[in-house]
Amino acid sequence: MTDDDFQRTDDGFRNLSAVSCSPTSDPAPPVGVASDFATPFDRTATGSSKWARAAAPGVIPMGLADMDLPGPPAIAEALERRARHRAYGYTVCDPVGRTLVADWYRARHGVEVDPDWVLLLPCGPRTTLRLLLETVRTEAAHPHAPVLFPTPEWGGFAQLCHAAGLPYRELPLRLGPNGYRSPSGPFPRPAAAVLLSNPHNPSGTVWPTGYLRGLAGWAAEAGALLVSDEVHGDLTHPGAIHPVAVTTVEPALRRHVVTLNSVGKTFNCSGVPSSFALVPDPGLRARLTDTMAGYGLWEGGLLEQTVQRAALSEGGPWLDALLAHLAAARARLTDRLGPAVRSAPRASYLLWLDAAALGLPPADARAALLQRCGLEASDGAEFGPGGAGSLRLNYALPGPVLDTVLEWLDRL
Ligand SMILES: Cc1ncc(COP(=O)(O)O)c(C=O)c1O
Repeated sequence: MTDDDFQRTDDGFRNLSAVSCSPTSDPAPPVGVASDFATPFDRTATGSSKWARAAAPGVIPMGLADMDLPGPPAIAEALERRARHRAYGYTVCDPVGRTLVADWYRARHGVEVDPDWVLLLPCGPRTTLRLLLETVRTEAAHPHAPVLFPTPEWGGFAQLCHAAGLPYRELPLRLGPNGYRSPSGPFPRPAAAVLLSNPHNPSGTVWPTGYLRGLAGWAAEAGALLVSDEVHGDLTHPGAIHPVAVTTVEPALRRHVVTLNSVGKTFNCSGVPSSFALVPDPGLRARLTDTMAGYGLWEGGLLEQTVQRAALSEGGPWLDALLAHLAAARARLTDRLGPAVRSAPRASYLLWLDAAALGLPPADARAALLQRCGLEASDGAEFGPGGAGSLRLNYALPGPVLDTVLEWLDRL
């Protein structure tokens, strides 16, 4: 048996579980989680990219998409427990992880996901998107067919296609009175893949079910794989419904669709990169697994599984508290910023703002906001065509910091 075989054999996990690295004590209830969100969270000396990017003292970083809020206690406890066992060798994938994902979708979204669809990847969503693009590329009937995606987008789609040397075409989203509207055809044909940020980063827009269904139908006709990037999907606010692509489209179209998700955004643990893909087509699953192996990647991963298992099995109450906090923060900011909010956010913790409506110079809005208000935002130009003149503001902040943000916004 080679090392590769060992890593890929589910049976091997039984040997590992005999070592007893699974939780033995009762999980701690998420006591005090709401009060965690009401207290400033000191990230000094934790190597936070978000804070490093903001650079100057006295600035509130609101750029990068991670939260200045402590993650679930269950993740910390699981990591501590596992770290105490000094077996840090290669690990196999625990198939129970697939069932946990299916249970999660049933409990959180009321949909049935077949555990067999689930691939548990030891890499973040960005890398998984690249792996999917590489897989699609090698099997494309039309090697020059472009990858399509609506813009503005979070910046990764264009970057990944560019890095992979794949042709791509950006489909500008149209703004209606209530925010972004689904792009409508005619779309170029043939196409290799359609990438959709669902819910939408940067605006937090939750796409309607009908849009997902229409897009899946059209993608199938164009010979394209629809990749629905749902890493913000579990952060859909109370009252809104997130359409999980693989369970929303017509069953006959499922094999043309992939849903991508991770616990990284949901539970603020992207520093331990992991993701999971729901891939109903068994052939595509096998090909994706082959592509992964070509990069030395196998399902599972020691820390990745530890974090994912703890998050999915114990993180629900923490997430409920978080969503209540985010929805309240969104209401305060959207009340304050009114018509500058380009599209009504119903998910995640991102506001997509019209710089001119804030009284900022569109070409230099990020610098102007930093200088006038001490708030660091993301520059809309990084989000592709249609992004220039916009700012993205991340409001996943503790209550008292949000108070300060609202106060500093008065300097606009
Ligand atoms: C919609 C979306 N997809 C993918 C990613 C990539 O996540 P990571 O960099 O953790 O792989 C991000 C990160 O912000 C994102 O917002």
